[in-house]
Amino acid sequence: MIPASVIEDIRYRCDIESVISTYVTLKRAGSNLKGLCPFHSEKTPSFTVYPGTQSFYCFGCGAGGDVINFVMRTENLDYVAAVETLAKRAGIALPDFDSNSGRPDTVSRSRVLQMNLEAAKYYRKMLFDDNIGAPGRKYFTDRGLSMASIKRFGLGYSPPSGGSMLKHLTSLGFKHEEIRTAYFAGKNERGYYDYFRGRVMFPIIDVSGNVIAFGGRVLDDSKPKYLNTSDTPAFKKSKNMFALNYAKNSDAGYFILCEGYMDVITLHDAGFGMAVATLGTAITSEQARMMKKYTDRVIISYDSDEAGQKAANRAITLLEEAGIDAKVLRMQGAKDPDEYIKKYGADKFRELIEASRGKFEFMLDGIRSKYDMSISDSKIKALSEICAYIAGIQSSVERDIYIDKTAREFSVDLKSIRADVDAKRRRAQYENSKKRKGELIRITSGLSDRVNPDFAKQPKGARIEEAVLGMLFIRSEYFTRKIDGRELAADDFVTTLGKKLFEFAKERHDAGGFSIGMLNESFTSDEVSRVSRMIAERSELSGNDEKSFDIYVKSMRDESTNARDGELSLEDILKKKRGNN
Ligand code: CTP
Ligand code: MN
Repeated sequence: MIPASVIEDIRYRCDIESVISTYVTLKRAGSNLKGLCPFHSEKTPSFTVYPGTQSFYCFGCGAGGDVINFVMRTENLDYVAAVETLAKRAGIALPDFDSNSGRPDTVSRSRVLQMNLEAAKYYRKMLFDDNIGAPGRKYFTDRGLSMASIKRFGLGYSPPSGGSMLKHLTSLGFKHEEIRTAYFAGKNERGYYDYFRGRVMFPIIDVSGNVIAFGGRVLDDSKPKYLNTSDTPAFKKSKNMFALNYAKNSDAGYFILCEGYMDVITLHDAGFGMAVATLGTAITSEQARMMKKYTDRVIISYDSDEAGQKAANRAITLLEEAGIDAKVLRMQGAKDPDEYIKKYGADKFRELIEASRGKFEFMLDGIRSKYDMSISDSKIKALSEICAYIAGIQSSVERDIYIDKTAREFSVDLKSIRADVDAKRRRAQYENSKKRKGELIRITSGLSDRVNPDFAKQPKGARIEEAVLGMLFIRSEYFTRKIDGRELAADDFVTTLGKKLFEFAKERHDAGGFSIGMLNESFTSDEVSRVSRMIAERSELSGNDEKSFDIYVKSMRDESTNARDGELSLEDILKKKRGNN
């Protein structure tokens, strides 16, 4: 079993769009991308990439999955080999999975917290040790950090010669296995070794002031650039944020969301005490909700490269779903906020904050930088892209506002923009219904469903089940949503495959986070593809909100109860039927 946190890292650092683009020419279609399927031959594109859920699905041949599945299929690799390939591409260190599984989970949270506190003190002591700490201090000062900042963030240094943290924690009465569980040690044939060596150390502190984890950066360009504490009994990466302990006390009225530790520290140093960062992964809905406790406004300030801007785009959607007003800050001439401030200063950065844009403007900026609006051909292409974007928006009020803006911004007739948007919406609706009709014919025409043999027995229930699973995989917070007073359980599902999928995903969700790539451990690639179809179908539709989810869950429960009754007595069903006639 590969740890969830590793899969998360990979999915974040290997954006599905950029990976697939190296194999397939993709064209934007609303918020998704389409291209010719690399897995079967076709003339019109039915291969679709969903950046929102980081998945793909081909409506022609049914292949689907996440970035890991894509690499498995194209490079003909097994799951672990595909994970390794992507990790290498992204410069991520893979822990050795086997020794990982031996980690005792009996170590208590408080024990880990004690170790973390001792470790933070020790790393700091090392940083300020005249001899040992010199390289660490030089690194921080070279990067322009003030002494006040180094102290405020409790930064430290792990000496390159191994064994010192092990020795230190052992001398305080901690056992080797406990130390390993807290990620201060690894284990190989030769025994235990220090996990962090020769790195500057960034402690991660939760809102109650506990040191819960560390990030450690190399002092040069070697790889991996960062090593981080993986999930421990005291830490879940997807549920914590860097510097939230300070930012929550800021009275700015908004947060600045960054990608890196160094960005946050430099921002705080420059007077922006409302900066926070995720811990090397895409922002999760849990993190969005955590921020929402303290603020209603977030300005996303990610790296200015393409990957950063794509991540920003996804973050907007997620933050808005949590009820946060999200804007994106656009930076030119520097790769990240840290570099920007050092180059241009805090005042210039403040101007960027003021100029930050909402999601529509942000999309327009992207298009403007791609097309030369003075050439009419390019302008037509640009407008067509904008219309496709607007057509994909569900709220008609929102659509109207954007149509109006576009018309004014590009001096074109409002009516023609509206006509184009409407035509695109009609076409999308037509294609959707065609797709679904085809699907329905396949299912009801008695063709046995190889992947889910139970489908034919209860087509209606099974379809509802697929909708529920699709929504669940798009919005993970539904795992813990109570409908009629209780959360979903395996028994609520209709087919054996549905139950199995739910059980697996639920277990992974509770253990730190589920993503579709993990299914490869227990399901066939056809089954994984089926799941991508569920996600794909839901992504193409509106109405994945709480209300629809509840309705679907309720009717799925009805269906599965019916099925159980049916098993009990055929007589009753016949009676019921006669009664109906
Ligand atoms: N990260 C990670 N592992 C890596 C690279 C990055 O965990 N191999 C995480 C770290 O939390 C890092 C964040 O992703 O802070 C952003 O990455 P990047 O932009 O590369 O790092 P910076 O914070 O800008 O680091 P620096 O300026 O020191 O190069
Ligand atoms: Mn940086």
